Amino acid sequence: MPLAGKRILLVISGGIAAYKSLDLIRRLRERGAEVRPVMTAGAQQFVTPLAVGALSAGHVYTDLFSREDEQDVGHIRLARDCDLIVIAPATADLMAKMANGLADDLASTLLLATDRPVLLAPAMNPKMWSHAATRRNVATLRKDGLTFVGPNAGEMAEGGEAGLGRMAEPLEIVAAAEGLLDGGAKPLAGRTAIVTSGPTHEPIDPVRYIANRSSGRQGHAIAAALARLGAQVTLVSGPVTLADPPGVTVIKVERADDMLQAVLGALPADIAVMVAAVADWRVATPNMEKIKKQPGEGPPPLMLTENPDILKTVGHHARRPKVVVGFAAETQDVENNGRVKLQKKGADLIVANDVSPETGIMGGTRNSVKLITAAGVEQWPDLSKDDVAGRLAGWITERLT
Ligand code: C5P
Repeated sequence: MPLAGKRILLVISGGIAAYKSLDLIRRLRERGAEVRPVMTAGAQQFVTPLAVGALSAGHVYTDLFSREDEQDVGHIRLARDCDLIVIAPATADLMAKMANGLADDLASTLLLATDRPVLLAPAMNPKMWSHAATRRNVATLRKDGLTFVGPNAGEMAEGGEAGLGRMAEPLEIVAAAEGLLDGGAKPLAGRTAIVTSGPTHEPIDPVRYIANRSSGRQGHAIAAALARLGAQVTLVSGPVTLADPPGVTVIKVERADDMLQAVLGALPADIAVMVAAVADWRVATPNMEKIKKQPGEGPPPLMLTENPDILKTVGHHARRPKVVVGFAAETQDVENNGRVKLQKKGADLIVANDVSPETGIMGGTRNSVKLITAAGVEQWPDLSKDDVAGRLAGWITERLT
């Protein structure tokens, strides 16, 4: 337990993601860490020092010029008397100050005075994150030896906008903190993972295909989450409109057959997470030419044949990965179907979700899943697909280590 007994200085700066820092404090303390919070003026507009103090069970530092605090610990000691500094959320403004050595409040001053490792969890609007100024500051901070976790892709709290900018989930920040305190080792460093994602396109003729509504969001998020924990990830993706996740090797395929070949080609691996919505059937012999409407003739019959089951193949493979995870998209009797699938596919875990149209899960950004293992069923709350990915990466890490 790398966090047990560790002293973490948590700097909370001013962003809506500050509400997640409350949960972060709980998660860190659950693991035996002692959390000393520092809040910027902006942070106090989003969460109160009272709430932060209650959760951390200690004093909350807010003011550089507080006579009591200075007499008690002093900002220099505050900056050094810890094992790790975590900045969550790290705003564009605070990062800009840090990159330029500004020190005009308690947070920026102690960040300039510290000699401890620093972990940043940025959170901001995607336009701010991709702005040239922020790019420069992030590059500078990385060069200065600071570590980043996130940001993740997804919808912004303010709504209407999506992209890179959401703060990493508390458990991802915990994992990154553990990695840093563990001598910089990421918990999945040296591990390899294969993830499938997206739909498959099964050709009918050169211009038509059979597909489904999978967006690839969940699979891509899982690939990214595993990579963040240090795994070397091969993502085999069907046709999607998503950007390739950072730090991941992406193999793009269209048909289930190609997906299977790509997955087998990526073996051996420690982890396989098969998230793709692979078409169960393909057209037995796709037409070489575009099928024409023939006057007087009815529609052409489509003769279907079964596709290979990639998860089942991997789950029973001679070089079966140590952890094999499948997904089960169901519209009825989710739990029972999941249990049957666990057996049939040779998986360690089936993540089952109800994809009835009214849930909005398929193609959407949120997910509500049940974890089905030989040990039983665990229902997770309604979460964003990024959150599901972060948690799942944590589950896989625990299972593996
Ligand atoms: O049998 P079903 O399609 O419901 O199983 C879902 C799980 O199996 C998913 O993890 C999916 O990625 C995987 N699968 C696969 N190859 C198929 C069909 C499903 O890998 N041909």
